[in-house]
Amino acid sequence: MRVVLLGPPGAGKGTVAAALVAAYGVTHVSSGDLLRAAVAAETEVGRKAKAFMDSGRLVPDEVVVAAVVERLSQEDGRRGFVLDGFPRTAPQAEALDQALAAHGTALDAVLALEVPEAVVVGRLTARRTCEQCGRIYNLQTLKPAEDGVCDACGGRLIVRPDDRPETVRKRLEVYARQTEALVHYYEGRGLLIRVGAEGPVETVREAAVAALADAAS
Ligand code: AP5
Repeated sequence: MRVVLLGPPGAGKGTVAAALVAAYGVTHVSSGDLLRAAVAAETEVGRKAKAFMDSGRLVPDEVVVAAVVERLSQEDGRRGFVLDGFPRTAPQAEALDQALAAHGTALDAVLALEVPEAVVVGRLTARRTCEQCGRIYNLQTLKPAEDGVCDACGGRLIVRPDDRPETVRKRLEVYARQTEALVHYYEGRGLLIRVGAEGPVETVREAAVAALADAAS
């Protein structure tokens, strides 16, 4: 199964991706996680990406495409994936198609998570992320058992630097300007499945898993 998750910042792409991994055993590839790891490790990619990410702008296509295509070419990525946060521009979508075609494969579906802007702003300000394993929590809707500590690995829970309110506003603006058009691009290709993502976490996860099961049957 080769699936793309589309949706604005805070729509729940990472949260839904975890459910799809559990249900279908596919590999979760998040462009944001790849870039954050590169920034933390101070690699060449990380140095190029940092200022863009800190200010809520998109990292240049050539930097992101190279990182994601390399990750997808690894053994587990070739068996199937859920791509979260990529593509975000038309050139990225074209590069993805070409990379898959080079391996004789193609996307099976694109899930568009739909949720109003006011809801995502609230979610992002309450988000906490494990700095060790990346698991996602929310102070309102998905609390850890112990404050500030990851249930899964005991790691410290942190606020992502780009979840500051002014950066969230910028990211939403960038999504509307540079990424939202991909919904129509994939709709035109008959790959798009819209999933209402405003409800509680469990409802949205189940809706996404069921939408893919329907698409595959
Ligand atoms: P990235 O890491 O991709 O961030 P994003 O797209 O802005 O998405 P988020 O991770 O903020 O949100 P999400 O939709 O995954 O929601 P989540 O599940 O965490 O990108 C970060 C930056 O990297 C970009 O700004 C850019 O600079 C760069 N970048 C990355 N990819 C790039 C690319 N392809 N090209 C160029 N630059 C790129 O949920 C959010 C919160 O809500 C959590 O607390 C969660 O618990 C909670 N929640 C989730 N679902 C629900 C629900 N149904 N009800 C209540 N709460 C919920």
